[in-house]
Amino acid sequence: MAAKLLEHLHNEHKNLSRFLYCFRYQLQGFGDPEQDANINLIMDMLDYINTFPERYHHPVEDVIFKKLLSKSIPDPDIITDVLAQHAKLEEITQKLKNDFNAVAMDIAMPMDQLKVDAHLYLDMQLEHLDIEESDIFPLADEYLDEDDWTELENMVETISEDPLFDNTRKEYDSLLSEITNFEAQGLDEETRSKFSDD
Ligand SMILES: [Fe+2]
Ligand SMILES: [Fe+2]
Repeated sequence: MAAKLLEHLHNEHKNLSRFLYCFRYQLQGFGDPEQDANINLIMDMLDYINTFPERYHHPVEDVIFKKLLSKSIPDPDIITDVLAQHAKLEEITQKLKNDFNAVAMDIAMPMDQLKVDAHLYLDMQLEHLDIEESDIFPLADEYLDEDDWTELENMVETISEDPLFDNTRKEYDSLLSEITNFEAQGLDEETRSKFSDD
């Protein structure tokens, strides 16, 4: 992967994947009084998605993918689908934030359904990431030339630090240690196999 922006997004995907598998693991205990999953942690996770990937990662991808649509690529629908998924995922994040917030406030919620919704959402996030990695980024690499990348780099705002993985925001400290513990226990097999080519 030659372009700096693509490399940057690829690294963000690696971290996002670490995050999503840990999120899925946390969710397993949710709704089970025996396991007492940490609702604050789940809220922090949704807050992070809303704060970083949706505010910085998606917009960078959006400008690249739109540029790609101006080229004679074989299957433009794949790009329009992924762009639409950004909006859809952001919408579901908001809904889940509201639902988990209601749980945190002891408002009666259909817990089983909420757990199913959250799992479907994580599957969508992971599938989205896979399509970008395996289909869209290679297309961008093939169809965008050096001038396009220079133009795109000028269009994109200064790349922001990741408040979780660059450890720049105190309120995500416990979330970061949760991910580190998850990995220290060897539960991150899927993340490792996903990026085994690196
Ligand atoms: Fe994306
Ligand atoms: Fe992405």
